[in-house]
Amino acid sequence: MGYKNILIEIKDAILYAKLNRPKQLNALNKEVFSEIKHLFTNIAVKDEVKSVIITGSGEKAFAAGADIKEFADFNIEQGKALASNGQKIFKIIETFNKPVVAAINGFALGGGLELAMACHIRLASTNARFGQPEVSLGVTPGYAGTQRLTQLIGKGKSIELLMTGAMINAEEAQRLGLVNYVVSQDDLIGKSEKLLKTIMKQSPIAVAGVIQCIDAYFTEGVDGFKSEIEEFGKCFGTEDFKEGTNAFMNKRKAIFTGK
Ligand code: CAA
Repeated sequence: MGYKNILIEIKDAILYAKLNRPKQLNALNKEVFSEIKHLFTNIAVKDEVKSVIITGSGEKAFAAGADIKEFADFNIEQGKALASNGQKIFKIIETFNKPVVAAINGFALGGGLELAMACHIRLASTNARFGQPEVSLGVTPGYAGTQRLTQLIGKGKSIELLMTGAMINAEEAQRLGLVNYVVSQDDLIGKSEKLLKTIMKQSPIAVAGVIQCIDAYFTEGVDGFKSEIEEFGKCFGTEDFKEGTNAFMNKRKAIFTGK
């Protein structure tokens, strides 16, 4: 599949996915969604890829939301289908078994913030702006913004941001725990790479287990404590576990193979 709206590159085991509709502030239309889905189900799964960075092209926006022009004349059923499809695709990212970083280089609004929140870790440049402005368009968020924003920053502040549609800056986003780090735009990808390189030195199996256990915490009907026992136990059958413990006892650095 040739991508029309996402620039992709694989370098040093990192898959770089750059949303590329800068004139529309990287708004997420139907095509972008099918490309994101294809990317995570066909490219990011390859063995040569160990982690993913999602960012936006241009200096202004990560993504300014779902494409308003595309859904402006939708009816109730089409609205539900739009949200359902978006939620399913973002869930693929949230539960992806390799680390996914959102490098937020500008506006992350509506669906753009929802995409960033589906990633495992968020880094922002100082010019980034965040918000769920959907109420100003007469809709609620649809790609799980009400859920993930509340999970990340708590009900008190989340309900205020969701009801006012207000935008916050990067410093405030960091204070609220919405982003992990704030750096200059020039340092954004470098800092994301540095963080991923630290993660990529760990056991990929254990890292995937962490992703799964945290997802279990937030999944209705799933006992996260039990999931942790399962994941922990499974690790004992891996070469990574033998390597990690052997390296510790021999006072050397572990080299993990993900087996
Ligand atoms: N959808 C479609 N086009 C968008 C867009 C969006 N979400 N955001 C920006 N654009 C387009 C603009 O229409 C404009 O295109 P034209 O030049 O063809 O008119 C271009 O991008 C540049 O935008 P602006 O001229 O508006 O740039 P600005 O600097 O004046 O303002 C902004 C920047 C404050 C981000 C403003 O563009 C804006 O408010 N955008 C909409 C943000 C928004 O409401 N997002 C939520 C979308 S709904 C959603 O996401 C629902 C959901 O959860 C599923």
